[in-house]
Amino acid sequence: MPRATPEPRHPSYWMLTSEGASFPPFRGEASTDVVVLGAGITGLTTALFLKRAGFRVVVLEAREVGGGITGNTTAKLTALHGLTYARLSDSEGAETARIYAAANLWAIGMISELVEELDIDCQFERRPVLTYTTDSEKSEDIEREVDAALNAGLSAELVRESDLPFPIAAGIQLPDQASFHPLRYVLALAMAVDGDGSYVYEQTRAVDVEENGEPITVQLEGGARVHASHVVSACGLPFLDRGGFFATAYPSRSYCVALESDGALPESMSINAERPTLSVRPITAPGGGKLLLVAGHDHKVGQAEHTSDHYAFLEDFAHRCFPVGAVAARWSSQDYIPVDGLPMVGRMPFSSDRLYVATGFKKWGLTTGTIAGRILTDLIEGRENSWASIFDARRTKVLDGAGEALKEQANVAKRFVGDRIRQAAAGSPDELPPGAGAICKTDGEVVAAYREETGELHLLSPTCTHMGCRVTWNEAERSWDCPCHGSRFDVTGEILVGPAVAPLERR
Ligand SMILES: Cc1cc2nc3c(=O)[nH]c(=O)nc-3n(C[C@H](O)[C@H](O)[C@H](O)COP(=O)(O)OP(=O)(O)OC[C@H]3O[C@@H](n4cnc5c(N)ncnc54)[C@H](O)[C@@H]3O)c2cc1C
Ligand code: FES
Repeated sequence: MPRATPEPRHPSYWMLTSEGASFPPFRGEASTDVVVLGAGITGLTTALFLKRAGFRVVVLEAREVGGGITGNTTAKLTALHGLTYARLSDSEGAETARIYAAANLWAIGMISELVEELDIDCQFERRPVLTYTTDSEKSEDIEREVDAALNAGLSAELVRESDLPFPIAAGIQLPDQASFHPLRYVLALAMAVDGDGSYVYEQTRAVDVEENGEPITVQLEGGARVHASHVVSACGLPFLDRGGFFATAYPSRSYCVALESDGALPESMSINAERPTLSVRPITAPGGGKLLLVAGHDHKVGQAEHTSDHYAFLEDFAHRCFPVGAVAARWSSQDYIPVDGLPMVGRMPFSSDRLYVATGFKKWGLTTGTIAGRILTDLIEGRENSWASIFDARRTKVLDGAGEALKEQANVAKRFVGDRIRQAAAGSPDELPPGAGAICKTDGEVVAAYREETGELHLLSPTCTHMGCRVTWNEAERSWDCPCHGSRFDVTGEILVGPAVAPLERR
């Protein structure tokens, strides 16, 4: 039997303010035209476009609709992704930058159209967006970005002042971008997909994809199977290792805090150009009223010592700078950063031409995931798509860079885990206080140990079931996180985030 997925320790503001539509789990065996794995914005946009193009679609979601990154995002819809255009023009050329800008603007328009057409109550609001620096030595980076963005066709503007309550040295501002409630939006997409021969299933985890001729068979946890002519992997970093994505994208985690406010908040959505990242946007609450969302302070998954400090940093920043009060929600989430800075969308590398992928959205996948939906639908329909080549998941540049990136990622992960294991070698699970977790030794065996507040002890194998790296303790989320490719497990070993498809073994 498939297992029920565990609840997140910190549900996002979006989860706290959405009525969950409920879709059943899939059991048994079925055939369809296209299986889409993952019901985030990428999977559901793809499924909706495919359904409208006349395909029968089955969406299989391991958790709930929007329960992945999409329900845990900051939800800015913009073509200005921090500092992007100067780097993109330098490394990939002006035409690539132009396509990237045009495609992202199209995506904001597409989301706006769907909101209107499907009458989605998701607080879609047009807003300016700002990338700024407070460091005068970095002003030149902003100026270069403004030039590159203008060349790419964006109506960007260099500003020296903003609506933030502190001085900035320079900023690039883009008008007419948007904010929305991402979970209410994707729940409405799921309702539009489900019906007339297409289906959405929740609590349904795919564990394998068999490509021995036609049709492709998707194997599900618990033994169920779905056969299809085409399969789209829209589930974050794909669990299938044949695409080589573990070498071409790494997982990065960020923190979010939504705070209540009855003061004057900035209208703009902003992000700084330095580190740690500080991303800010206002939220209009579904019932009226305002909140401020601050997010950022990222780190590679499984590679931070005191994860609670990241929340504390953001809360301190918010209280120092803005008229905010109580915390309405705090949560964290991760996305996948591609080695060459562009998402990977299209036919899966080293696979048949009927297996497709969309990943590596670099924390800007609400627009680029929507773009992916268009590209994948066009590929499946056999139609030309003028954006497809710059995002092509089989592009040689990304595959060529894979070896170096893999080595780098493995070395960092090994060093980090090695240090943690050495420190923990002396510890015994008996010494763990309530609410604490650590890598310990018991009877000569290394275990991942967690003691519940009630005193109950959970002992697990510390070996990630994906590719055998050793997990580390995340004290803020009370989870075991893998520093290699970002799988996460709860304290009983159940999967919180893939690419792992099997839980940690109990000891
Ligand atoms: C903190 C943070 C802030 C962000 N802010 C922004 C922003 O302001 N603007 C922006 O554009 N982007 C932002 N992003 C990025 C954006 O949210 C993501 O890129 C986007 O939501 C990805 O959507 P997705 O559908 O590809 O993935 P997801 O929403 O993660 O959907 C994938 C789904 O696949 C499911 N799944 C996984 N494995 C399996 C399996 N084996 N079988 C079946 N289902 C499976 C998961 O449960 C999940 O629901 C942010 C990201 C983070 C982490
Ligand atoms: S996520 Fe790949 S080894 Fe853990």
